[in-house]
Amino acid sequence: MAEETRHPFLHGLSKHRGSPPTVIIIFGASGDLTARKLIPAIYNLAHDGLLPADFYLIGFGRKAIPDAEFQKMAADAIKEFSRREPSPDVWARLAARTLYVSGGYDEKPAYDRLGARIAGLEKEIGQELQSLFYISTPPTVFAPIIQNLGASGLAARYLRQRHQSKCIIEKPFGRDLASAQALNLELTTVFDESQVFRIDHYLGKETVQDLLVQRFANAIFEPIWNRNFIDHVQITVAEQVGVEARAGYYEQSGCLRDMIQNHTMQLLALTAMEPPVSMDAESVRDEKVKVLKAIQPLRLDGANPDVARAQYGAGVIGGKPVPGYLQEKDVSPASATETFAALRLSINNWRWQGVPFYLRSGKHLARRVSEIAVRFKRTPGSLFAETDRSMLAANTLAFQIQPDEGLSLILNAKIPGLETRTQPVKMNFKYATTFGSNTPEAYERLVLDAMIGDGTLFIRGDETERSWQLCTPILEHWAAQGRTGLDTYASGAWGPPSAEALLAANGHSWREP
Ligand code: BG6
Repeated sequence: MAEETRHPFLHGLSKHRGSPPTVIIIFGASGDLTARKLIPAIYNLAHDGLLPADFYLIGFGRKAIPDAEFQKMAADAIKEFSRREPSPDVWARLAARTLYVSGGYDEKPAYDRLGARIAGLEKEIGQELQSLFYISTPPTVFAPIIQNLGASGLAARYLRQRHQSKCIIEKPFGRDLASAQALNLELTTVFDESQVFRIDHYLGKETVQDLLVQRFANAIFEPIWNRNFIDHVQITVAEQVGVEARAGYYEQSGCLRDMIQNHTMQLLALTAMEPPVSMDAESVRDEKVKVLKAIQPLRLDGANPDVARAQYGAGVIGGKPVPGYLQEKDVSPASATETFAALRLSINNWRWQGVPFYLRSGKHLARRVSEIAVRFKRTPGSLFAETDRSMLAANTLAFQIQPDEGLSLILNAKIPGLETRTQPVKMNFKYATTFGSNTPEAYERLVLDAMIGDGTLFIRGDETERSWQLCTPILEHWAAQGRTGLDTYASGAWGPPSAEALLAANGHSWREP
């Protein structure tokens, strides 16, 4: 493979991406995310030689288990979920540095024991360790963990030095504006904002980062990236899975909180933001906040609302009949929880005024696919009038976030032959074809970035509050309505009629991704 087309991980990383000696402490060590994502990500970083020579992993949880049992849990997780076959040598080195501390999340002495264990490791190696506290627990224990990290002095270790303590926190960052503000206050009472890394795992996806590269490393896009050339933008994050075993969580959440407020809003912000002055965390996040602030309040009722919500009914997925949401285990038969949501957003700034941004996400949809489709305006005039004008497609640039990662552009081409007839054709760039398919998982990038203190791919407190500010009135409106106005769609379809109506009002329709 030519040198310039090789994957950067084959070159190792640039010097500034080295991390200081680090201990990662995972709260929620026996949780699903830890097994599926965090431990495999740490293992793969070790595999690639990207962990500092002095690296430790400490699981923290209520259950009292010895180090050896946690090591066994970690080994099983790596075997089952690592993207690569585990190497016994790499694992043996990491296992020797994998420890466990037990204690209640609200018991201060447990944090003192944790602190003593970290201090013991520092003494052993004769070096200071950066502590990275990874909160991957249910939100009910966020506050006690944060408060105890403060009270025990752990949050303030080596403050304002490069290896100061850091806190990674998983969603949900609140369930509405007020609770998001309260959580941000908890965090910033104990940590400086520069120590806080709020995870949205979509930002760790290769294709989401590629969106920034495509936009800002190619001169052809900027001149046309505005209301003069773009007709509208469609962002789809479709899942084929249903609620599975997570009804307990999902019943309290629903699609707007689970996917729209965070993942799809982030995709919108990256698509629509102004070019940042640099790729540093503050510059990029300043631009994201600016564009989120320019989104207009939504029309919630009346004849042509900007929002649609629905629940999946029974249907067919992958050739098999599946039950509707109300028949799922642990779902209330009277549940008004939406499993699908769609929004029509207007961004009131110089670049985007008059360009609708449509967002949709749902479970039990036809396929698992996430994409951002930028639909350009049609050509003026009718040079090819003798051909069927409706055959001329609008140019569409689609960023395929997953699966089948890539970028495609729809153009009109002449069909070979003795007369001029046109046909839309698709130019495709596929990641797997160009770069191979074994790319790092989102969590590998995010854990590494947090270790080196780069917050570019994490959510700042004001970003999450702005996004909640937009979503909270919708949630309140839906809560007041209960099941009134809640649409349904057959499992395996692309969503409800009300989502079609959002676009039809502007003469648009959802493209099939
Ligand atoms: C999570 C949601 O944030 O994202 C889940 O809580 C959803 O409900 C998941 O399934 C989707 O992530 P991905 O990476 O599989 O698209």
